[in-house]
Amino acid sequence: SGFPSVLRNGLSKLGFPREILKLIFNWVDGNDDYLKIPEAKGSISAIRSEAFFIPLYELYLTYGGIFRLTFGPKSFLIVSDPTIAKHILKDNSKAYSKGILAEILDFVMGKGLIPADGEIWRVRRRAIVPALHQKYVAAMIGLFGQATDRLCKKLDVAASDGEDVEMESLFSRLTLDIIGKAVFNYDFDSLTNDTGIVEAVYTVLREAEERSVAPMPIWEIPIWKEISPWQRKVKEALKLINDTLDDLIAICKRMVDEEELQFHEDYVNEKDPSILHFLVASGDDVSSKQLRDDLMTMLIAGHETSAAVLTWTFYLLSKEPSVVSKLQDEVDSVLGDRYPTIEDMKKLKYTTRVINESLRLYPQPPVLIRRSLEDDMLGKYPIKRGEDFFISVWNLHRSPHLWEDADKFNPERWPLDGPTPNDTNQNFRYLPFGGGPRKCVGDMFASFENVVAVAMLVRRFNFQMALGAPPVEMTTGATIHTTQGLKMTVTRRIKPPIMPVFNKRETTILLDH
Ligand code: HEM
Repeated sequence: SGFPSVLRNGLSKLGFPREILKLIFNWVDGNDDYLKIPEAKGSISAIRSEAFFIPLYELYLTYGGIFRLTFGPKSFLIVSDPTIAKHILKDNSKAYSKGILAEILDFVMGKGLIPADGEIWRVRRRAIVPALHQKYVAAMIGLFGQATDRLCKKLDVAASDGEDVEMESLFSRLTLDIIGKAVFNYDFDSLTNDTGIVEAVYTVLREAEERSVAPMPIWEIPIWKEISPWQRKVKEALKLINDTLDDLIAICKRMVDEEELQFHEDYVNEKDPSILHFLVASGDDVSSKQLRDDLMTMLIAGHETSAAVLTWTFYLLSKEPSVVSKLQDEVDSVLGDRYPTIEDMKKLKYTTRVINESLRLYPQPPVLIRRSLEDDMLGKYPIKRGEDFFISVWNLHRSPHLWEDADKFNPERWPLDGPTPNDTNQNFRYLPFGGGPRKCVGDMFASFENVVAVAMLVRRFNFQMALGAPPVEMTTGATIHTTQGLKMTVTRRIKPPIMPVFNKRETTILLDH
């Protein structure tokens, strides 16, 4: 490019017909076609009405691993190619920011770790990652077990009464209870109560999702904020959550001040193992808005995602009874009737594969958002600074070019003696937690949380789609939701026998002799 492209742009601005310029410049540099990113044509009006990543999948099959999609004045580059995804997320990640995502989430996350860019991101990532060390995650396993047990009690009642249950909202409450305790030592107790604060969290989440799919930022119109009853409700909800966070930070500060503090790398306070406690003990500025932004970010990041993973896992399981049997065999033999421990996480291999496979078919979120901060080359295509990108994890995870039987739920595709699949060992065709420097900080936390929940639930109950349940269809906010819930019939399993693993070995020894 270089001079010819400057000349071409100049001539084009002076009003020379594009077609003629194209002819001349093809002759000059000979390879123009080869440099132009394919442009998707046709109507995209459908995008508002259904889960928007579905039409993007169809377009990917037609236009390939990178194409441009234009709506009115806006245009996006849709990426579904592992090599380009790797370039943007990892190899040249410095040249990309969170773009529109940061704009949409500003009202709730401010400069929290997910939307933050540049120096703020670097400093906060360094402060927060150490808080999720191994000892912390191990301490969380007990919390996952207790919270799931509360859900089991609830399901027990439903099973006795013969009442169907809507699992999506129960999973949402389970993961809200967990993340509240895990991040700032707060008991939402949302599985049993509907307090104002729980409602406030859901109000804010709904607003975040509306903004993610809105065609126009009407919330930026000054008077709208004042006269719209919904916007006032959002404002009040934010205030309630922020006041609660301030109280929790103050309580935590007092605790830390009273401790005989010996802060070290894998510091955990027994009474309050939360991330907040670690951050305050490590000397984080408790008066800052930054700390609140980060807490709010983790609350939302860790809540919606895990709830969606559990919802889609149980939906997938309801269609594959043979997978459920294998799952139950593993859980019976590894756990028997105990609460799971950190050691069990290594042993629950098939359970882990079920989650890995569920995350492949239903990645949360289904697309990653970026904006280019400088001109760059993506494969053979030059791109400009200021382009908005959707990296479609959905397309990567379901590409017929990258997977055998891409749409099939098949946990067996991940051998039990192989590595747990991740961005690196799958060469960026599998990105359930993103990849590169901005990869999820809660990946291990979330994996164990999901394994514990699935293991404890399938050990106690059988789940089936309820008779006359509404069809399970997808819609998007930040994560993939069902349109009308996941209505299931829950029946108690006959209590599994306690079968410690060593029994099996004894049996074979007996048989050998
Ligand atoms: C980032 C997925 C649970 C905290 C991310 C990203 C993904 C993701 C895909 C990358 C976003 C991007 O590159 O634009 C998930 C899934 C989860 C989960 C599927 C559950 C199954 C959690 C939990 C926490 C958490 C439990 C907190 C304890 C974060 C944070 C970031 C992040 C802070 C931003 C990291 C950065 O930009 O440096 N997550 N997440 N996530 N996640 Fe998670």
